[in-house]
This record gives sequence, C-alpha cells and structure tokens, in this order.
Amino acid sequence: MAFETIIVEIEDHIALIKLNRPDALNALNNQLVSELLDALEAADANDKVRCIVVTGSEKAFAAGADIKEMSDMGFVDVSNINLFGAINDRMATVRKPIIAAVGGYALGGGCELAMACDFIIAGDNAKFGQPEINLGVIAGIGGSQRLTRFVGKSKSMDMNLTGRFMNADEAERSGLVSRVVPAKKLMDEAMGAASKIAEKSLITARTAKEAVNCSYETTLAEGLRLERRLFHSLFATEDQKEGMAAFIEKRQAQFRDR
Ligand code: CAA
Repeated sequence: MAFETIIVEIEDHIALIKLNRPDALNALNNQLVSELLDALEAADANDKVRCIVVTGSEKAFAAGADIKEMSDMGFVDVSNINLFGAINDRMATVRKPIIAAVGGYALGGGCELAMACDFIIAGDNAKFGQPEINLGVIAGIGGSQRLTRFVGKSKSMDMNLTGRFMNADEAERSGLVSRVVPAKKLMDEAMGAASKIAEKSLITARTAKEAVNCSYETTLAEGLRLERRLFHSLFATEDQKEGMAAFIEKRQAQFRDR
C-alpha cells in the first residue's frame, strides 16, 4: 500500500506505523486517519506481523484533529464524515496488540489516538492534553470517556475543562501511560516491548488483549466469567501445551500460534 501521511515499516514481526505530517505536527486529517486505519487493518491481517507500534515524531505524536480541515464544517459535514468515530470503531476490530510510543505533543485527537492503542509508552518530553474546550468544542474520540477511565473523574474534568497539558511524569503517576523513558530511548523501549510481545503465542496475546479490553465494557462479575472461559479455552491450544512443557523442561517455548 502506498501512503503519503504515514510511514509503515515491517521488520522482525513488528509493524511500525509512523505518523508523518511534520508541518502540521501530525494533525489528524481525513487522509492521515484513513491511511492509519488501513495500515492498522493490513498489519492485523498480515501473518508476518505479531505486534504493532504507532508513533509520531520527537516533537509531536499528534497535535489533535486537523483544526484547519474542520474549522468550516457544519454539523451535517462533521457527522457525515464521521472521521473520528471511525478511529474508535475500526481500531476496536484490530486484534493484535498495538503500542503507542508517544514523544512530544499528544493533544486532543492525538491523546485520544494514543488511548485507543493498547498501552502507551512515553518519552519524558511527552505532553498530553484535551484542549478542545479552547476551540469551542469537546473531545470527540474518547477524551471524555477513556481519559476518565484512565485517570479518574477529577483529573479528567481538570484536563477537559481547563485544557491544560499533563507532562509525562504526571501521566505515569495517574495511570495514563505504562512507562516513561528518556525521549532519546523512546523507540528502543517501544520496539523492545513489541519484541517481547512478538515472542509470545499470538493466540494468547490476542486473548489477553480481549480479556483486558472487556474490563472496560462489563461488570466485574461478567468480566471474571469471560476471563475464566477465555482461560479455559486456551487449554485447547498447542501453545498452552508447549508453554507449560517448556517451563517444566527449563527451555524457551517455541510457540506456533496453534
Ligand atoms: N490542526 C491543524 N494544524 C495544526 C494543529 C492542529 N491540531 N496543531 C498544530 N498545527 C500546525 C500549526 O497550525 C502550525 O502550522 P503553520 O506553520 O502552517 O502555522 C504547525 O502545526 C506548527 O504548530 P505551532 O506553530 O502552533 O507550534 P508550537 O510549537 O508553537 O505549538 C502546539 C505547538 C501547542 C501543539 C500548538 O500547535 C497547538 O496548540 N495545536 C493545537 C492543539 C489542539 O488544540 N488540539 C486539539 C484539536 S481538536 C481535536 O482534536 C478534536 C477531537 O478530539 C476529535
């Protein structure tokens, strides 16, 4: 696939998707969102890929939805295009793990895109925010919903109502990101995490992702029931036999995704 606003590299079972609109700080316009979603779905369907990393530049993961593209839109235009709804709907169908490697600004739709990934690794220069209120709108891809689940009501209200930015330390303290590393080491850290995931059984990794994501959607009792059934189901795989045999025989497991 030929892309103009993203760069895709596939190596060692990892698909690295780099947002690439440097002049607009990777603002999410129609083309970028379409290309990103196509690339994510292609990576999900590609047998060579076992984990996906989404990143931006050192200055910006993404500075939000493209304000210039949407400034003249009316209700009908914005609802017909449903660009942002597509991020939530189509990313939810990607079954392989997706890591967001965030350096610099992750604002508005950029913060929301990072949260739509499975977890976030941040450089110590990262800045997260939902500044849509300054534009006379509110978050449109999960900034009022996912952010609240990540950091709690008080901090989410603070971010959504004042539009202030959160630095990487605060983001880690509040549970928005899983790790913070020096900006220069961000990609090494993210690719290292992706390599670790790529070593696992893909069936198991996908099942773990499904189980964790389910905790957002269900009651605890329903989630525990689903987790138990998913756990049971993995005993039907060869990879469960291999993983446990490898432990007992004190060797590295050779998973075959079966
Ligand atoms: N949309 C379009 N263009 C953007 C942009 C955006 N979200 N963010 C930055 N740019 C452009 C700027 O217009 C500028 O372009 P020009 O050189 O052509 O003027 C270029 O990127 C560089 O930006 P700045 O000169 O502003 O860079 P800076 O270092 O001074 O400031 C910044 C960086 C603080 C991130 C600032 O650019 C900024 O505040 N950007 C907007 C952030 C924002 O409000 N995001 C929310 C968007 S709405 C949204 O996302 C809705 C939703 O939830 C779906």
